[in-house]
Amino acid sequence: MYAVETDKLSKVYHSGLKAVDEVSIKLENGEIFGFLGPNGAGKSTTIMILTTLLKPTSGKAFVAGFDVATQAKSVRQNIGYVQQDSTIDEYLTGRENLELQARLNHIPKDIRTKRIDEILGIIELSDRQNEAAVTYSGGMRKRLDIGGGLLNMPKVLFLDEPTLGLDIQTRYKIWEYIKKIHDEFEMSIFLTTHYMEEADKLCNNISIIDNGKIKITDSPKALKNALGNEIVIFEINSEIKLEQLVSEIKKLATVKDVSTNGSIITVFTTSGDQLIPQIFQQASSLEIKIESISLTKPTLDDVFLSHTGRALREDEGKYDKKKMRERMRRIRA
Ligand SMILES: Nc1ncnc2c1ncn2[C@@H]1O[C@H](COP(=O)(O)OP(=O)(O)OP(=O)(O)O)[C@@H](O)[C@H]1O
Ligand SMILES: [Mg+2]
Repeated sequence: MYAVETDKLSKVYHSGLKAVDEVSIKLENGEIFGFLGPNGAGKSTTIMILTTLLKPTSGKAFVAGFDVATQAKSVRQNIGYVQQDSTIDEYLTGRENLELQARLNHIPKDIRTKRIDEILGIIELSDRQNEAAVTYSGGMRKRLDIGGGLLNMPKVLFLDEPTLGLDIQTRYKIWEYIKKIHDEFEMSIFLTTHYMEEADKLCNNISIIDNGKIKITDSPKALKNALGNEIVIFEINSEIKLEQLVSEIKKLATVKDVSTNGSIITVFTTSGDQLIPQIFQQASSLEIKIESISLTKPTLDDVFLSHTGRALREDEGKYDKKKMRERMRRIRA
């Protein structure tokens, strides 16, 4: 039995939009599984189906061994769900927020107090538990949200974008809490994120989702290794013979994959040192001038790029032309 198992799960909204398109995934018990994708990829829709808040249009989904379509109550008894948007009531204290949620979850009175004490300890809010949540920092609020997801000590915890919008330091802290929860309670965790580093640090396995479709599923390490261990990024002066150049580069022995963004070419390779002179040779034989070139190690961002043909966040990616030029300038300086 898997913690989560779906078979060709699909969701078509009334608008006709297919937000989830034949998604088949398996989350082993005790695993942290990451659903990685850009805005609108279908991550929250999938989570809402798995947590029984939304009915699938077709396909099957089982959570903790129960069918989300026919055994919704049993599914709910075995899961915790931390929504993308906070559900905290700011005018209640941290403790009161958990009390309220515990009552809504029908957690018996005799275990409620002890459970809440324990959770406040885990999320390190014991000393601030009697202050109104409005006085909490962003990280503290997120911790309280996560605490709410732990109230019924679920077998499977769903975290939808647990660190979205938090600063990097707070994000690291939240990762520590997630790890702690996972290790202490041997919980299976399904999280969505569009932070590559988050998926890389936390997850045993990752599925990359884009436009409702799974592009690939594997461990972060295997995904990165599949691209070779180095990346050469270079910019050419004219795009006229770009296709010719790319097709020549693809034939080279050390090349795993090539992608382009305007005049910027990204080559995944097993040996940058061998490849760079060959790129110059090919370019020169086609009378193409290389404006700049650099060598880096692959990250999950690169994995995403190679499977979707675009950066996870076009505005932030290192393949963005402006960013790329700035980077090149820094390298030259
Ligand atoms: N209730 C709805 N009715 C119609 N379309 C919807 C509805 N909810 C979501 N969508 C659409 O479905 C697609 C997937 O949305 P979803 O919220 O699942 O994406 P996501 O991967 O969670 O994105 P984000 O990273 O922004 O949270 C989007 O195109 C979205 O506009
Ligand atoms: Mg979402």
